[in-house]
Amino acid sequence: MAVQEITLQDLSTEAFIDEQVKAISEAVGDSLAVNALSGGVDSSVVTLLGHRALGDRLKTYFVENGLMRAGEPQRVAEIFQELGVHVEIVDAKDKFFAALAGVTDPEVKRDKGITEVFYKDVFAGLVRDCGAKTLLQGTIYTDVEETVAGIKRQHNILSQLGIDTEEAYGYKVVEPVIQLRKPAVRAVGKALGLPEELFARPPFPGPALATRVVGAVTPERIALVRAATTIVEGELCDSGAFQYMAILHEDRVTGIRDGKRDFGLQIEVRCWDSADAVTATPTDLPFDQLRRIADRIIAEVPGVVSVTYNIAPKPPSCIEVV
Ligand code: XMP
Repeated sequence: MAVQEITLQDLSTEAFIDEQVKAISEAVGDSLAVNALSGGVDSSVVTLLGHRALGDRLKTYFVENGLMRAGEPQRVAEIFQELGVHVEIVDAKDKFFAALAGVTDPEVKRDKGITEVFYKDVFAGLVRDCGAKTLLQGTIYTDVEETVAGIKRQHNILSQLGIDTEEAYGYKVVEPVIQLRKPAVRAVGKALGLPEELFARPPFPGPALATRVVGAVTPERIALVRAATTIVEGELCDSGAFQYMAILHEDRVTGIRDGKRDFGLQIEVRCWDSADAVTATPTDLPFDQLRRIADRIIAEVPGVVSVTYNIAPKPPSCIEVV
């Protein structure tokens, strides 16, 4: 069935919330459901809709895949605890790094390294262990559009690619915000009482920092891009931009350190102006600010000898590099 978009203009947040709460209750019936919360606005909205519909019959997990930003699992669990939702952090780091080992092709990374581990291994295990029959997830309209158009395989697209989740993974998937784009999801989040820290949060992809490492993903390379991400996010959080990020490249470049040749690492900084991620343009950041970011990355991230700023728009570029 084709998904019908609900535009921000046509959205009545209260009516949407009532409808989705009812739809979740009907889909899950008397059984249990699980959902994975990443702290992004999409999964946060689904968590609150699901808890309104199901209360304690929804088990919310934060999958610690080893690819998240510094302190993220604990901070997200804390915020939801304050909202009355218990979040269990599931340590799946080893499973993800094992699946990602040696994988360099971007689509294989997304498919075998992330999607398969998430759905076949981690979620299937959680569903089995707690006896749930349904997974609620925060797929949004843009995810479907890009995957179906063949631009990028978003990690959370399943039925639109012909995957029967009950057959493949042993559970049904319900996607309450699939008709919305990001601005509409934010509006629903605000109406549900999410704190601004979450409903206004820049988007962050499900495959997390794995989409910010070109080439092989290892715990060491993730640690490098995580450190650069902390710097970029700290420096750009007041920029008003749609999304900003640090990327670790695979190619090394010649530099000089302590008077000697150093074949070192390259970090690319991206900062985007966009309404809905479909098209985007690089933010016109002041050069002083870019220089401060570069100085900090060079000083604080070991081995970096080059920092660049992306100035190509989407399209033909994409927001993420993988
Ligand atoms: P691209 O890179 O396709 O990104 O221009 C568009 C928007 O989608 C986010 N993104 C993802 N989100 N799973 C997600 O949940 C994914 O696999 C994924 N890939 C990209 C990206 O951060 C941007 O906001």
